[in-house]
Amino acid sequence: MTIDKQHRRAAEERLKHMHQQLGGFAYGGDYNPEQWPRETWLEDARLMQEAGVNLVTLGVFSWSRMEPSEGLYDFAWLDDVMGILHENGIGVDLAIPDAVPPAWLIQQHPDILPELADGSTFGFGSRQHCDVSHPVYRAKALALTERLGEHYAEHPALRMWHVGNEYGPVSYGPWADKAFREWVREKYASLDELNAAWSTDVWGQVYSDWEQVHVPAQPRTWSNPSRRLDFHRFTSDSMLRHFTAERDVLRRHTPDLPIVTNFMRFFKNNDYWAWAAEEDAVALDIYPDPREDEAHIAAALNFDLMRSLRGNQPWMVMEQATGAVSQWSVNVSKLPGKMRLGSYQAIAQGSDAILFFQWRQAKGGTERFHSAMISHAGTNTRIFREVTQLGQELKNLPQLVGTRSTASVAVVFDWDCWWALELGNSPRSDLNYPAEVLRYYKHFFHANVPVDFVDTKTDLSSYDLVVLPASFLLGDEAAQRFTDYVAGGGRLVVSYLSGIVDENNTIRLGGYPGALRTVIGAWSEEMHPLAGDAEQVKLSFADGGTGSAGYWTEHLHAEEAEVLASYGSGRLAGFPAVTRNRFGDGSAVYISARLDEGSLDRILREEWQQADVEPVIDAPRGIQARRRSGGGRDYLLVLNHNDAPTGVDLADGGTDLLSAQHVGGRVELPPYGVLVIEEDPK
Ligand code: GLA
Repeated sequence: MTIDKQHRRAAEERLKHMHQQLGGFAYGGDYNPEQWPRETWLEDARLMQEAGVNLVTLGVFSWSRMEPSEGLYDFAWLDDVMGILHENGIGVDLAIPDAVPPAWLIQQHPDILPELADGSTFGFGSRQHCDVSHPVYRAKALALTERLGEHYAEHPALRMWHVGNEYGPVSYGPWADKAFREWVREKYASLDELNAAWSTDVWGQVYSDWEQVHVPAQPRTWSNPSRRLDFHRFTSDSMLRHFTAERDVLRRHTPDLPIVTNFMRFFKNNDYWAWAAEEDAVALDIYPDPREDEAHIAAALNFDLMRSLRGNQPWMVMEQATGAVSQWSVNVSKLPGKMRLGSYQAIAQGSDAILFFQWRQAKGGTERFHSAMISHAGTNTRIFREVTQLGQELKNLPQLVGTRSTASVAVVFDWDCWWALELGNSPRSDLNYPAEVLRYYKHFFHANVPVDFVDTKTDLSSYDLVVLPASFLLGDEAAQRFTDYVAGGGRLVVSYLSGIVDENNTIRLGGYPGALRTVIGAWSEEMHPLAGDAEQVKLSFADGGTGSAGYWTEHLHAEEAEVLASYGSGRLAGFPAVTRNRFGDGSAVYISARLDEGSLDRILREEWQQADVEPVIDAPRGIQARRRSGGGRDYLLVLNHNDAPTGVDLADGGTDLLSAQHVGGRVELPPYGVLVIEEDPK
């Protein structure tokens, strides 16, 4: 994704200004004062200062308090809160509460509630209960945005706008249906074009009138994957259209303030490349599950994705938990030190904000057991002590804000690929795009080789190695871009299930992967998913090594490509499994099977080593190291994700800004320990 230069510069100025006003990192969280009496607001402001809080997100779910009945706006309580915060030096990230259309609005227009594919409707009582295509919902949300923009534009506490909350609800209702039809008409010049793009001759679905085109509501059985792909695109576009309309209102009132919305981890419904381009910064809600040993690796992937979405611009942790969440079957609290570690992990990967959901743990409502910066038990708690320690530490690190990191490896993460891969009607129905990407990302994470994520439209010229994991859908331009990249000297690694379909989700003929067949110098005759979870085949590497593969294999033929590994057992025994092709001045590796971790490691390691890519540091497993640079200085952040002390060799020394000690050579990090090293000038 390429973001217009002028827009990028303006956004960066807004962020720079905001961080200058905050004095460095943004630190704080969602604040819901309407749940508490006014005395608590005063106590909150005092405790926020104690905890080092400089920014709170206000009003995310406050529509029914801001507009208690139609057209009657009440901002008096909010003025009071904002005044108290301002007097105490705390900035406000003010939300547009469009995620919670109030009961009176639903009473008037029940069809605002989104319809599910089966025609049933969600009831009132949760949130995100709206069809963004509903004209009254949109008009009312925009009117409130206008009022808030007008009223608070000059407020001295206002630092940033937070539009909506976790956009994502899909609707199949009548308003979405109408909007989808309009979207389709705009995209396709004629019904013939539409019929061709959606392959409607299959199962006799030819359209002869635009009015016959509808959202893909619950079909009797399987339904058209091209139509459903367009519905994904429409859903993301229609929510984005709502976001940008609200953003434009706010921009008019406050041209110098950043405007963001909060993204989610591995969120499929919205194409975050398109969304990020419309914001001033990317903001993420991240809730790694403490029950999962590798939750920090999936978090790392999401952090790198967020850093990449706006081309390496600093981003924000908009929400995280201090302890437990409340939405899972078992809500395990973070171990002592883990919240701090996760916060520095985000910082190491480019975040300039550490914010939580939420400031004060609610005593009622759905999330009354969700942890917060202040727990039910009060401030004499481990959590408040950890929150305060981190807040005070971050105050001492303003020099890191605005610094950036670079990567010379790119991994493709693309929403079209995600949607198309998981639409079903393919050789397996359990395909999981993020899991496929994670499998490749993990290697680079463990090796401490930083990666950028790119979509299939990004310019690849600055990368030494590009990896395409399960990049199922490649349009002609994308296929050409990857081909040119290799011809020009780049190194490409392509996994199975890449380049299989075109932008309409129709198969590229003549051997898989049709889009990349020339560049990989090999072709696949037939896909052979393996039936049982435990089913494995052996692999024999050309150098005598062995390995195994499961889940996915292919009947591959090498043409110009050299064979790096062959299937050693099963029905494909003797056929190539992994190949490398010299093409132009570069090379392309094709991996036709889901390799065991060791085999994938050896193939990927060889590629980045051959490309002269260097890890940040060589470190034992569980140690993550990232460098951020700026203002003529380099900052090396070293994180111990292990629950045991772990030694690291630091070739170059520097000052650990957290302990103010000079460190260098062999250093031992305690469990979950962190170093933020300002490196000695070279
Ligand atoms: C999301 C929401 C928050 C809160 C948290 C709980 O991120 O945006 O309002 O519900 O989940 O984890």
